[in-house]
Amino acid sequence: MGFVAHDLGVDLGTSNTLVYVKRKGIVISEPTIVVVDSSNERKVRAVGDDAKIMLGRTTEGVMAVRPMREGVITDFDMTEILIQFFMRKAIGSSYIVKPRLFLSYPCSISAIERRAVGEAAKFAGSRKVFLVEKPFVSALGSGLPVFDANGCMVVDIGGGTTDVAVVSLGGVVISHSIRVGGVKMDEAIINFIKREFNILIGDRTAEEVKLDLGSALPLHGERRARIRGRDMVTNLPQTTEITSAQIYQAIQEPCQAILRAIKWVLERTPPELAADVMHSGIYLTGGGSLLYGMDQMIASELGIPVLLAKEPMDCAALGLGNIIENFELLQHLGRASFLKEF
Ligand SMILES: Nc1ncnc2c1ncn2[C@@H]1O[C@H](COP(=O)(O)OP(=O)(O)OP(=O)(O)O)[C@@H](O)[C@H]1O
Ligand SMILES: [Mg+2]
Repeated sequence: MGFVAHDLGVDLGTSNTLVYVKRKGIVISEPTIVVVDSSNERKVRAVGDDAKIMLGRTTEGVMAVRPMREGVITDFDMTEILIQFFMRKAIGSSYIVKPRLFLSYPCSISAIERRAVGEAAKFAGSRKVFLVEKPFVSALGSGLPVFDANGCMVVDIGGGTTDVAVVSLGGVVISHSIRVGGVKMDEAIINFIKREFNILIGDRTAEEVKLDLGSALPLHGERRARIRGRDMVTNLPQTTEITSAQIYQAIQEPCQAILRAIKWVLERTPPELAADVMHSGIYLTGGGSLLYGMDQMIASELGIPVLLAKEPMDCAALGLGNIIENFELLQHLGRASFLKEF
């Protein structure tokens, strides 16, 4: 029986959920997917890694759910189940004092959408819930000096959203969030292959193609891959060959949307802080920032240095971890105003 009160950071992402446990670090990093019985949604078959294997391959009576879309909860019950499952996996279920949960949310979501995040965390079995804006924790997790009188720009390109913010003096000065990220790139690839080849491919195949051939800049040497899908005319399985140039073309629009979001924030950043950003550069975090050439494309379009964070997919969870480890100190110093108690 655990007598210690646990503090957990949950980076509830559209694609992946990470859990940080105080004094332990990141203990869970798994896809945000739940597989349940169709007739009884409370009967959980698999969550996370185990659920991803079943995605697109479920049999009758079983369904796989991605409870988050574009950074917001689309299936409240499944999100609650997912948080509860990961909480138990992280700290077990035999504790006396319920844990405190720290979660991040995209800056653009509505008050109702934010409330859903807080409630799902509370219903999953937490004592207290604290919410923080996603780019702030990403900046903190990238090791940026967020409490200094110096402007830092962080761009978190996730699966569902891209959050851009300038952070200074322990708060977000200006931010912008668009519902474009890695998933939109996958969808763009699906649409491209449908349009050009009349072949329907699944989400997983599209993501694999993106990881294999995708780039934000034209590649010097062309690369090729064979993909399998369903012919939309004959309905039979079909194979075709695609090139990196085609995938580059397919994902241009989401990449340009991300660039526009960064420009939008830069144009509205107060001059002193904009000068800081020009000097210290833009920090990229989130899985989407790993797309080949993303950093170079942004740097060459804006003429500002762009730096990729060390572990881009861990930054938000590490930022939450940083808050958890220093919670009392932050409160004592009056620096915890970025936390919203739910
Ligand atoms: N090497 C890579 N190249 C391109 N994309 C990648 C790479 N690695 C991961 N991704 C993409 O990153 C996305 C997942 O990133 P991440 O885990 O940061 O998102 P998330 O936190 O779940 O989403 P969000 O924060 O938007 O809710 C997926 O779309 C995945 O395909
Ligand atoms: Mg994220």
